[in-house]
Amino acid sequence: MTGPSPALLGLDTLIKIRRDQLGFYADMHARFGDTVPLRLGPYRSWLLFHPDQIEVVLASKADKFIRFERMMTVLRQWNGESLFIAEGQSWHNRRRKVLPAFARKKMPAYEAVFQHVAEDWVKRLSEQSDNNGDVDLDADDIFAQIALDIALRTLFGGGFSESMDQVSEHIKVLSKVAFRECASPLTLPDYLPLPGKREKKNAMAFMRDLVRDLVEDRIDGPAGDDLLQVLIETHAGDKQEICDDAMSLLIAGHETSGAALSWIFALLADHPAALEKCQNEVAGTNDVGEMSYLSAVVDEALRLYPPGYTLFLRQAVEDVDVAGIAVKKGELLQVIPYMTGRDARFFDDPNQFRPERFLTKPAWPFFANIPFSAGPRACTGHQFALKEVSIIAAELLRAFHPRLSGSFPAPDPKFSLRPQDGLPMIWKNR
Ligand code: HEM
Repeated sequence: MTGPSPALLGLDTLIKIRRDQLGFYADMHARFGDTVPLRLGPYRSWLLFHPDQIEVVLASKADKFIRFERMMTVLRQWNGESLFIAEGQSWHNRRRKVLPAFARKKMPAYEAVFQHVAEDWVKRLSEQSDNNGDVDLDADDIFAQIALDIALRTLFGGGFSESMDQVSEHIKVLSKVAFRECASPLTLPDYLPLPGKREKKNAMAFMRDLVRDLVEDRIDGPAGDDLLQVLIETHAGDKQEICDDAMSLLIAGHETSGAALSWIFALLADHPAALEKCQNEVAGTNDVGEMSYLSAVVDEALRLYPPGYTLFLRQAVEDVDVAGIAVKKGELLQVIPYMTGRDARFFDDPNQFRPERFLTKPAWPFFANIPFSAGPRACTGHQFALKEVSIIAAELLRAFHPRLSGSFPAPDPKFSLRPQDGLPMIWKNR
């Protein structure tokens, strides 16, 4: 197995990744095949492109890997020791306590929130239309707001009074910081008087206070019918644990769903026949469970543009064989759903938007298409998110006809995969 020859302890590799991350992965796969050893500073790292290797890392030997500690140290600053961050037994305990919040019997209450938020936004946006019935908007920004609105209401119910714009601004800062600090070889200490540091400290303090106040109000006040209530019950009132998990669900849950909606709408606007099919389907029923074509559109958008385009780096906790590769303790492994989801060995016309491929039994290996990851650490919000984006998309497609204002957006691989330079669109009232 060969990879690029490292220069300057892999600094050249880091520079190439910075310049064009997705292009770098494609180039590595094309030149070196399914297994690419790399040097990243002091670490030996492996890019894994084959579903059989990915199955080992995420499922059959998942207990031999942790998430790369350096990245977790960055995220721990505001997510605390939450489900998102914890490892080993502590992670098991967290997962057991968070999963009941996503139980099937809880879904109808969340679905009612999705529907309510969707109708609210249709009304708001319709009021902004011009004389021709057109609404000129940055759909990426609108979807970020809708997803945040949903995250806040499903987590904290009606108890939320702060300005959503303020919350959104502070979360954007944290997302920017997460990307910057995770991607750079060293993090400068927060006490240095650098411009980004004050912004980061303000954002962290604002979010911590916000979540703590909401948690304390709920512990002292009446019960609710939301995610927070489940966390309070399963964490048996441990305030720190409740705050950490509430914060991480808030952050994990909304940026990804917003990005998914952006890609769904960009792709539909770019494919008029698929858009028409969706619009006919949503006109025929109010039940997203019956919208098989829309569901295929959602799956296909997630295959082509998975918001979690690369999983967190994994680190081996002991020497381990990964489908024939001898990985040593401490080495890093990278799984890239964006790449495996576009592998021509498993998907016909892999770069084409063809929702129909999801209308029949999958012809690809399970681990080739993993927008929600897989195995014991898979996304806890998987079903929640699918319902969320389907209900929002159905309601908006019923009300508006979306069209791109410019050309199809390029993907921008930051903390999640979003359209570069936003998503300018015109939505015509129907
Ligand atoms: C389209 C929307 C979403 C996508 C594409 C997505 C994707 C992912 C992915 C890829 C991971 C694994 C990351 C890794 O291991 O490197 C993950 C983990 C996670 N997601 Fe999601 N997610 C979405 C929505 C949500 C929502 C709505 C919630 C909660 C309300 C959520 C909560 C979580 C949590 C708590 C984890 C960590 C699980 C653990 O470590 O045990 N996600 N998600």
